[in-house]
Amino acid sequence: MRLLITGGCGFIGTNFIRYQIANHPQTTVLNLDKLTYAGNLLNLADIEKEHGGTRYFFEKADIADATAVQSILKKFSPDAIINFAAESHVDRSISDPAPFVTTNVLGTQVLMQAARDAGIPRFVHISTDEVYGSLKADEPAFTEQNPLLPNSPYSASKAGADLMVRAFVETFGFPAIITRCSNNYGPYQFPEKLIPLMISKAWEEGNLPVYGDGLNIRDWIHVEDHCHGIDLALRTGKEGAIYNFGGNAERSNIDVVKAILKLTGKPESLITYVKDRPGHDKRYAMDYSLAQRELGYTPAHSFEQGLADTLKWYENNKEWLDNVKSGAYMEFMSRWYGER
Ligand code: NAD
Ligand code: TYD
Repeated sequence: MRLLITGGCGFIGTNFIRYQIANHPQTTVLNLDKLTYAGNLLNLADIEKEHGGTRYFFEKADIADATAVQSILKKFSPDAIINFAAESHVDRSISDPAPFVTTNVLGTQVLMQAARDAGIPRFVHISTDEVYGSLKADEPAFTEQNPLLPNSPYSASKAGADLMVRAFVETFGFPAIITRCSNNYGPYQFPEKLIPLMISKAWEEGNLPVYGDGLNIRDWIHVEDHCHGIDLALRTGKEGAIYNFGGNAERSNIDVVKAILKLTGKPESLITYVKDRPGHDKRYAMDYSLAQRELGYTPAHSFEQGLADTLKWYENNKEWLDNVKSGAYMEFMSRWYGER
């Protein structure tokens, strides 16, 4: 199978490319990535070294650039496109929503149009539980039938993309599948997101900034389980379907932060409650029974073991962590947390 993977230099894309190379020897991957602040070519340096030019190819391009995308599709002629490329951080979307609309909404439409014109037979669009909005403590988990009620510019842009995918399916018979997943954690996650940020701060013995009362709840899924789910959707999912994936691990932020402090052997006095994120969603939870029934999906990692393994990975890859804390990263982080 020939796969065009967009956003392959980001967190989940990197893990998905590694998953494909390791588990599907007949699969060839073209990674199309704009290399924004969140994209790191070094993530796949070993894959490039071993498989570059045979099973792995890279093109620096923007999914919103129709000419570039058309020419790449013509050259590579993929059997499927998996669209991970996105602006993905809620706090950045609060700071500046514009690139979220350009990449997440316009970019997805441009990519789908090019795929349609080229007759690509499969398109998997990677989305998020955040499109459903926020749950109260006693509400049932999101199903694929929940209305889209996004609250942040990030989730609104993802919902906009999902609706455009739906419109392409309904209007043009476009062969797309949407997957929606809860909060991922694991290797190669950029340290602006909760878990790697807190690991990094704990090691520095800096303040661990917890928004609001720390009681917001996320469902955590190990990135390998997400990659497995996407692979099942890609290879066996029904055209036009939407599949939820979850990790079966609802945890409050404060519990996650305390678990990280315990694993790193650092004191809870490092926890610093800061001003809440505006529009902060209270709780996400996923009902993934459709994916269980139709795809045979089930998450394999427990949160506690997955978190311990993730910490080990960051311990063994401290250089990676230092490397990605570039000028652009530091600039956003000091501005964002300076205002809190
Ligand atoms: P990420 O921010 O780590 O990586 C995004 C990647 O996309 C980067 O490599 C970046 O360079 C690339 N990119 C950005 N704009 C681009 C453009 N215009 N053209 C081409 N490439 C571009 O994100 P992630 O956490 O790996 O998330 C990947 C996808 O999964 C996103 O669509 C996100 O919405 C979705 N998702 C993420 C989570 C999560 O917990 N991280 C959960 C559910 C869904
Ligand atoms: P994040 O990793 O940004 O993912 P998302 O907002 O997409 O769920 O944040 C996860 C949770 O952690 C969210 O409730 C916000 C909270 N959070 C903090 O309390 N402090 C922080 O510094 C960050 C980045 C997040």
